[in-house]
Amino acid sequence: MNSSKNNMKRENFGSKFGAIFATAGSAVGLGNIWRFPIETGQNGGAAFILIYIACILLLGLPLMLSEFVIGRHTQSNATRAYHLLAPGTPWKWVGRLGVFAGFIVLSYYSVVAGWTAKYAVLAIGNQFQGCDPDSLRTTFSAFASDPWEPLLYLLIMLLMTHAVVVIGIQKGIEKCSNILMPILLVIIFVLVICSVTLDGASEGVRFLLKPDWSKIDSHLVISAMGQAFFSLSLGLGCLCTYASYFKKDSNLPNIAIQVITLDTLIALMAGFIIFPATSAAGMPLDSGVMGPELIFVTLPNVFQQALSGLPWLAYSFSVLFFILLIIAALTSAISMHEIVTSYMKEEFHLTRKKAALIETLGCVVIGALCALSFGVLDNVRIFDKSIFDFCDWVVCEFCMPIGAILISIFVGWYLKRKTVENEITNNGTLRVPLFRALIFILRFVAPVAITLIFLDQFHLLS
Ligand code: PFF
Repeated sequence: MNSSKNNMKRENFGSKFGAIFATAGSAVGLGNIWRFPIETGQNGGAAFILIYIACILLLGLPLMLSEFVIGRHTQSNATRAYHLLAPGTPWKWVGRLGVFAGFIVLSYYSVVAGWTAKYAVLAIGNQFQGCDPDSLRTTFSAFASDPWEPLLYLLIMLLMTHAVVVIGIQKGIEKCSNILMPILLVIIFVLVICSVTLDGASEGVRFLLKPDWSKIDSHLVISAMGQAFFSLSLGLGCLCTYASYFKKDSNLPNIAIQVITLDTLIALMAGFIIFPATSAAGMPLDSGVMGPELIFVTLPNVFQQALSGLPWLAYSFSVLFFILLIIAALTSAISMHEIVTSYMKEEFHLTRKKAALIETLGCVVIGALCALSFGVLDNVRIFDKSIFDFCDWVVCEFCMPIGAILISIFVGWYLKRKTVENEITNNGTLRVPLFRALIFILRFVAPVAITLIFLDQFHLLS
């Protein structure tokens, strides 16, 4: 099949680094800097981290490579890719599921991204100085339940995402990632150094490095797998869409290893910012950092307390941290937007501008409903969940695991082994020593393991 003939004018990432930074930009997001520390805190620290790393290597890497194979081979959007590889079969529904989930995930992710923008503004205005946890909590709930302000920040984040996507692959997504990812790396590095050198930081460092093996149980393993998927942007066709812009001679295993290394390092570094600062502030490590409050209530307080004698450092710490979050959220939001934009553009023959506009408008509507579910729409319940929680549930606990199970079966069982091998080895020009292990994992390990995660979400295992 030569699908590239159908897509003669399709854009590519211009450079090797551009492809790596854009894909890493998708992977590195609120999942690393917000969700990872919460999960680590709730699951006992180092033991969770070890299992998480095992999941990344055992499941994350093979699944990422599978999405790369599908996307780069077909050079098409997530839905058409399945249509080209399995014409006339229901496999195209895997792509459609991804497009639907990409739309929903962007809608509610932008709400939280908007909160980070608001908190960057508060940090810049030095509004956290002298606040205690109670007043920080009041500030957060007053803001989140306000009928207008969260909508404004949601709109700002969506418009920024929209602008980058409209500009296109090389000049928009790639350029933006090339600028923002190095800034993100520098900020996070500076924050780690500041955090681990605080007085009283050592307890936090120990929490991250010294595993308590008694903490490992099936719930911990399943949480670690879920976190690995979210963090690597797996299962929604996002990586497949980005891989469709990779050049034909790009080295897929190398890109996957580099993206995974960067994503994991950044999650670990986020841990090394948050836990040492938390212990330096004399707060408990396992229960004190739980829940969505972590970033918006606990952390500003942690910075204040840990650096109470150095107000300028507390100020810089807060400002840098929230700017870091905005960057991370933005590069991930762009990738979610691109799943839907490329689909609309190619399937409905729209211009990039029109396709992106429809996606953005749709996200404004669903995002507004999600944002308002913390305030005026608080009483609207779907399956006993708020609108925001329902959207998160649909994506993380339904679309992502189902998508990942189907992707592993598609590449492991449905695609011809030769097709997969040719794509991964660039028609035999690269040596990929673990190819057989990869196929084994995709055929047996991944579908079984992910099915366990899926069943656990519905409490069918306990
Ligand atoms: N990987 C992103 C994060 O860690 O925040 C979240 C994400 C991006 C999920 C893109 C799904 C996706 F398609």
